[in-house]
Amino acid sequence: MAEYAGVIGKEGIKASPKTRREFLMNAAAAAAAGGLATALPLGCGGRKAGPGPQAAAPTLSAVNGPRSLRAHAAEHGMLVGCAVVPEKLDGEPDYARTVAEQASILVPENALKWAALRPAPDQYDFRKADDVVVFALSHDQKVRGHNLCWHEAIPSWFAGTVTKDNAAQFLTQHILTVAGRYAGKLHSWDVVNEAIDVKGGRPDGLRDSPWLQLAGPGYIELAFRTARQADATALLTYNDYGIELDTPEQIDKRGQVMMLVRRLKARGAPIDAVGVQSHLSAGDAPGAGLQHFVRELREMGMLVFITELDVNDRKLADSVADRDAVVAKTYRDFLTMMLAEPNVNVVLTWGITDRYTWLNGPKNARPDGKPERPLPFDYDYSPTPAFFAERDAIDSRRRSGHPGSDPYAPFSPGQSGSRSEYQ
Ligand code: XIL
Repeated sequence: MAEYAGVIGKEGIKASPKTRREFLMNAAAAAAAGGLATALPLGCGGRKAGPGPQAAAPTLSAVNGPRSLRAHAAEHGMLVGCAVVPEKLDGEPDYARTVAEQASILVPENALKWAALRPAPDQYDFRKADDVVVFALSHDQKVRGHNLCWHEAIPSWFAGTVTKDNAAQFLTQHILTVAGRYAGKLHSWDVVNEAIDVKGGRPDGLRDSPWLQLAGPGYIELAFRTARQADATALLTYNDYGIELDTPEQIDKRGQVMMLVRRLKARGAPIDAVGVQSHLSAGDAPGAGLQHFVRELREMGMLVFITELDVNDRKLADSVADRDAVVAKTYRDFLTMMLAEPNVNVVLTWGITDRYTWLNGPKNARPDGKPERPLPFDYDYSPTPAFFAERDAIDSRRRSGHPGSDPYAPFSPGQSGSRSEYQ
């Protein structure tokens, strides 16, 4: 493949033009001046509420500073955060303020996907992703990368350009370039996203994706090995959805994810964590199956991240108070169960405000056209009952008996009381 002639040069990340940097809120610019050369400490210790806004609005004093999600999470050795839209960090002060105040970890919602990064086969455009990383650095926040390999968000030039002959090379080159650019700066990478689809009927459960078709089933291991080659420190994650519930379909899918992880581990592939996306519906009640899955991963020495939590309310009648109550209960029950597990140490919601949730896009909208309320802050940046449920669940970690326990400490096999569903 030809050397890329990136929109931003190979020499690395440069400060964005002034207009793009106003969101850094000046004080942050100094930190940004060191740019991404400033190493991000990995892991998630650090008890710091971060700079955040100078003067919180009175109505927000109950949820800001020491009462913020990030402050509560830090008390329990956890990271909490959300997916972000770079343009809003830049252009909407309330958005930037809320993200700065509440999150200790960010993930670009779309900016690191192939379709966003790769305008042409030989070009990379890192500007929006860089904006997120610079914002995070300047607000003492960590960053997840999402994602290096997925069957969606594939650029239009892909079909016809990527073939069976060059697919492995395209994948390798992409990962070396993208993960290499941010090497040493990211908390974790979703290396492969959503590779399992039990409905496809393959014995190995792999989705019939362009990557499977063009590069064969070895593409997943190749992606993980290449990611490790490019970045020695990011926690390498397999991320998937539809594995939270104990319905027959989700039990099957969870089992195939576990088998995939076991195969990768058995071959010595570098995989550190599983991302449970956690796109839930109001009233969903994840149970023992997911708990066993998390415990089994713990015994394998692996972390579990809640990577994309939101709760859609599209099946509920239109009473805002009633919807909020069911959404909040879903948050509370799910997070209280998950955060009782020491190896679940990171929670991200898929967005911070209902104003910009993907659930109000055409694909997911409510039948009555009313906006959904799936996130910790509503359309006007007021905290929702889900905010308080999330914060309470974070606090429940103390009562679960491992306050501030170090999730990176060696695991003690056999002590979690798990019973495998996947023998
Ligand atoms: C979604 C984004 O939120 C949308 O803005 C975009 O149009 C489509 O992708 N699982 C994932 C995420 O891993 O990347 C998806 O994000 C949501 C489902």
